[in-house]
Parts: sequence; structure tokens; C-alpha cells
Amino acid sequence: MNNTEQMYLDFHAHILPGVDHGSSSLETSLQQLEAAREAEIGTIVATSHFYPHLHQVEEFLSLRDRRFQLLEPHLADYGITVLKGAEVQLCIGLDKMQNLEKLCIEGTDLLLLEIPDMPMTAEMFETIERIHKRMRVLIAHVNRYPKKTVQKLLDRKYMLQLNAEAFTPLLLEQNIRQILESGLVYALGSDVHGSGKRAYRSLKKAIRRLGVQNDVIQQRMKGLLQ
Ligand SMILES: [Fe+2]
Repeated sequence: MNNTEQMYLDFHAHILPGVDHGSSSLETSLQQLEAAREAEIGTIVATSHFYPHLHQVEEFLSLRDRRFQLLEPHLADYGITVLKGAEVQLCIGLDKMQNLEKLCIEGTDLLLLEIPDMPMTAEMFETIERIHKRMRVLIAHVNRYPKKTVQKLLDRKYMLQLNAEAFTPLLLEQNIRQILESGLVYALGSDVHGSGKRAYRSLKKAIRRLGVQNDVIQQRMKGLLQ
């Protein structure tokens, strides 16, 4: 096993400069990379926000490519691989959007899907189900949703991504025990916005707190990218 393989993955990050509000400049993105390196992250999935009511797929991909090219020459300095992805916000009928599959994480048929901040309706769950029949679905930062929504996601056995923020001591026991015990957590993420120091410190702590479970989740993340 080489050094890169021993390093951790960050499956949810807003690290591309000027694609969304995660990073407003190359300088900020480089700070994020530095913080990620300090947290022993070797691979970052760049999951820029995609809002179906605001964005067009082709325009989004073109902007994302251009901004990735700005960052790419610096990646070797940090020993970090960045894969292009998107955090796609769910809306009713998203399954009918043309080129949805192009928003999957680079080289995969895996879509990171964010539940919007509103009560989930049966139609919204039906939309997820229809998408799920066409491609793999990973539900973004499951720790952020209301209990009822989380329970329905667990009942449907979707693959789930947890954010590092879920592991702050006050929240750990009460909010995410059931999620962790479900065995459905397939990915961890920093969900980094801004300089990255806090997000990557949290991710490092989460990795430590998870212990053996982290080994399983790291393997699962590698598997998702194959
Ligand atoms: Fe995010």
C-alpha cells in the first residue's frame, strides 16, 4: 500500500474556486487544500452545489471544468486528488431532467443528492426512487435532516453520507447513533466552505471518533468510486 492509499477520503466538499459559495478564489481553495492535507486527506470529491431551478447542466459542467483547471496545477503540491462531482438538490421531477447522469461523480454512476429544506412529500420520495432505478444515489449530509425524513431514508435503505459536523460531542449520541447503527453510512464529508480549517479539524476528529467504523466507511468510499 502506498501513501496515497493510506490517506482518507473526503466525499463532500465545496473546494472549486468560484463555482459556488464554498470558495470565492483560488487562494481560498488552496487554503482548503492545505487544511485537507493536515487532516491526512488524499482524495476529495468536489461536490459543487447544483440547484435545478437555477442551473443548466451543460453550463454548470463547463464552469466546473474551467474552475477545476485553475486548481489542477496545484494539486500535486498537496498530494491530493480531486474528483469532479456535484451536490444536486432534489426537486419533484428531477428524474426527468435531461443529462442528470452527467452530474454523477466523475467515473461513476453515483449521484450525491441533497434533500431541500422543506417537508418531504410522497412525490419527492417517488422522485428519489425513480432516480435510484437509473443510477446509484447517495443522500448528502443525512445528519442535517428532520427525524421523520431520516427515518424514511433509513426505511428505504438508501446509501447515506454523513458530515463531520455530526460528530461534535453534543450531537453525537442523540442524533446520529441510529444512523450509524443502520449500517447505511457509506461516506463521510467535510462539506468544507471557506478557509477549511474548522471543517477539516472536524473531519479529523470524526475519523478518530469512528475508529474501526471509519475503516469500513473509508473502504466503502473507495468502493463507491470504482
Ligand atoms: Fe454541501
